[in-house]
Amino acid sequence: MRVSRVYNLYDIPQEKFDSGKIPDKSWPSKGEIKFENVYLRYRPNTDTVLNNLSFHVAPGEKVGIVGRTGAGKSTITMALTRIVELENNKGKISIDGEDISKLNLESLRGSMTMIPQDPTLFTGSLRHNVDPFEDNTDEEIISLFKKAGLEYLFEGKSKKEKEDEANEKADKKKRLQIEDEEEEKDKDKKDDKDSKDGEKSKDEKKDGEGEKKEDEEEDGKGLKFRVKEEGNNLSVGEKQLICIVRAILRRNKIVILDEATANIDVVTE
Ligand SMILES: Nc1ncnc2c1ncn2[C@@H]1O[C@H](COP(=O)(O)OP(=O)(O)O)[C@@H](O)[C@H]1O
Ligand SMILES: [Mg+2]
Repeated sequence: MRVSRVYNLYDIPQEKFDSGKIPDKSWPSKGEIKFENVYLRYRPNTDTVLNNLSFHVAPGEKVGIVGRTGAGKSTITMALTRIVELENNKGKISIDGEDISKLNLESLRGSMTMIPQDPTLFTGSLRHNVDPFEDNTDEEIISLFKKAGLEYLFEGKSKKEKEDEANEKADKKKRLQIEDEEEEKDKDKKDDKDSKDGEKSKDEKKDGEGEKKEDEEEDGKGLKFRVKEEGNNLSVGEKQLICIVRAILRRNKIVILDEATANIDVVTE
């Protein structure tokens, strides 16, 4: 099975990643997008998803695309990034006058920032996630996080982690209560032993607090906030906001948000 899967992967046509025209460094300086009679289908034997699509986005213009689920909104981003190529060169997409089908893929994809519906983050610090090449100052990044309403992350804990901790604490309390009740039942019989147990549980509580303090010191504070595996310690909304901060720091002329604010509350949006 596994070997045949490897062979199947081998048969997938490779993207022509390092060929194609490399545009001027300044491209795209305006961010003008033109779709002209575009047709696109995902597989040879399926229907076309984009049918004779034409539209024009002027430089600096902010455009929202509205349509029911399955209408083809995400497919437009596939066409723009050439993750799926147009149907037999039927139609043309250009950015600042450059036909994107002729461009080097790395240049094309590097020219735009895309925030997908379910963004992924990398294991590492918050800073590493939004500015991996360290092109920006801490102050710039911190001010953006504040604008996004995410400054509570600088304390070293996400909402999720705080909630988990609160639940754990509540659980512990319950457990202690139950223990206490059981102890009370036994009280008549073992008066002497009971008082010793009481002291013991007090000691245990103190130990627990000590552990927590150590954990906090290990947790990153400020921009060193730790993003865990695939951003599992963050909610989808928080991840989307972090990706938006990343997008702003990249200063690309073209930013594509594919329902990227679907999990962000209205006030923050
Ligand atoms: N990877 C894919 N392979 C085949 N068909 C797809 C794929 N992705 C989307 N489609 C089809 O393309 C159409 C448009 O989907 P999509 O662009 O995701 O819509 P939207 O983003 O507007 O909800 C749908 O009919 C969908 O089933
Ligand atoms: Mg979609």
